[in-house]
Amino acid sequence: MSTDRPFFVTTPIYYVNDTPHLGHAYPTVAADVLARFMRLDGRRVKFLTGTDEHGQKVERSAQALGLTALQFADRVSAAFREMDRVLDISYDDYIRTTEERHVRGVQALWQELERRGEIYLGRFAGWYCVRDEAFYDESELIDGKAPTGAEVEWLEEENYFFRLSAWQERLLAFYEAHPDAIAPRSRRNEVISFVRAGLKDLSISRTSFSWGIPVPGNPDHVIYVWLDALTNYITALGYPGDQNLNFSTFWPTSLHIVGKDILRFHAVYWPAFLMAAGLDPPRRIFAHGWWTVEGEKMSKSLGNGIPPDVLVEKYGVDPARYFLLRELPFGSDGDFSHRAVVGRLNGDLANDFGNLAQRVLVMINRECSACVPAPEALSAADTALLDAARDLLETVREHVEQQAFHLALETIWRVVGDANRYVDEQAPWALRRTDPARMGTVLYTLAETIRHLAILAQPFIPGAASKLLNQLAVPEAARRFAAFETAPLIPGTPLPRPEGIFPRFVDAPAG
Ligand code: MSP
Repeated sequence: MSTDRPFFVTTPIYYVNDTPHLGHAYPTVAADVLARFMRLDGRRVKFLTGTDEHGQKVERSAQALGLTALQFADRVSAAFREMDRVLDISYDDYIRTTEERHVRGVQALWQELERRGEIYLGRFAGWYCVRDEAFYDESELIDGKAPTGAEVEWLEEENYFFRLSAWQERLLAFYEAHPDAIAPRSRRNEVISFVRAGLKDLSISRTSFSWGIPVPGNPDHVIYVWLDALTNYITALGYPGDQNLNFSTFWPTSLHIVGKDILRFHAVYWPAFLMAAGLDPPRRIFAHGWWTVEGEKMSKSLGNGIPPDVLVEKYGVDPARYFLLRELPFGSDGDFSHRAVVGRLNGDLANDFGNLAQRVLVMINRECSACVPAPEALSAADTALLDAARDLLETVREHVEQQAFHLALETIWRVVGDANRYVDEQAPWALRRTDPARMGTVLYTLAETIRHLAILAQPFIPGAASKLLNQLAVPEAARRFAAFETAPLIPGTPLPRPEGIFPRFVDAPAG
């Protein structure tokens, strides 16, 4: 059953010190699939992405290039928008933390925390890691470095602190009361153990550099970049105001998609900041895994990050999106290899789905005067295939709601497999002479099945699915999930000339 419940999904906002690569494409594609799916399912959707532009890391990267921090941020933020364009990302809002609406909202949140007695001025002495923009405890360091392997610096300065320690029990109660708020389960357990081990108050301002949002009333301090960045999720909704009911409609967020490396900020600090300001914590946070490339960690020095435009140029946007979500369970780590991508592209896409569509559409074109054929009485095999296609939505929706994208795709492709077997068994080419009416029924059954498959595949492979729906002459208005039942293919509808949708990938000969 579809519903008009609002759905608010976010990606992390990307640091502008790095140019976009596969690791950034991943959460963005996942959020896009969710946003598209929910829109097709009749929900009111807001899909937010953007760039995280303040902090010492960005300030240093800009200086190294001889640019002002804002010039540098403008340049890289534009590159992230370009990533969204090449990946067919349907975001509704793109926030930059240097925007006025954001700065105003962060300062308002600060003042609210201050008003509620959640902030105090103190002295910080400890380790800070610029690359991670995170504070570490002496006990967390490994061989004098951050647990992520990055360098740390000793820091002693006057800082404002947030009374995080006071939120320990209320955070634990929140996790307990909302077992699905942090996923996957193993990550939730890690967060709970971390909080149980004891929380210290958190330094939330800095004085030793200036590229950030000034602390209201004390401009010698800039606000800690994570307090600044996390707040994007509400400043984009107009916090502290509620213009066009954006905040009251979309908060609390339905889902924050984050990498496992930034789960602690989202699952511990963020709910604590929100609750401390009298706001609801997020409904759900999903921590996805990390990709390696051909077995290697992606790194700037290895230069193996795979920029999104290279990815798309090489494999095509739909195959790239498909691969990222099909290859791994969303919470797991995995490897991006050329061989694996080509395997999926030529197997699942070209051979299985592409050939199915091509075979059926070419036969209809040749044997049914290029019009949707009229079915006669359905056999048990016809009904079985159509039922399998009609049952897909419910199962796929359940998987998508759990962010089990690989299972959603596996489910859809199971029916692709059923349909391919059905073509072989029914052999419509052989019926052409012996029983043309039966051939029409078989081809109708297949075309209807392909209509279901293409409608459901839209969130994942929007370009290819839309081409396929054009070839079935399915009008735009009949591409939502509600149309599964209400708008079956109409016999006699003329169809355009069929065209392949997934070219096979052929490796250039060596040398
Ligand atoms: N700016 C912060 C997020 C603030 S959200 C309020 C940040 N930015 S980031 O650009 O460094 O990383 C953004 C996301 O990219 C993270 O969720 C991270 O997990 C993801 N990835 C970066 N490299 C990755 C892989 N190799 N594999 C998968 N995802 C990776 O953190």
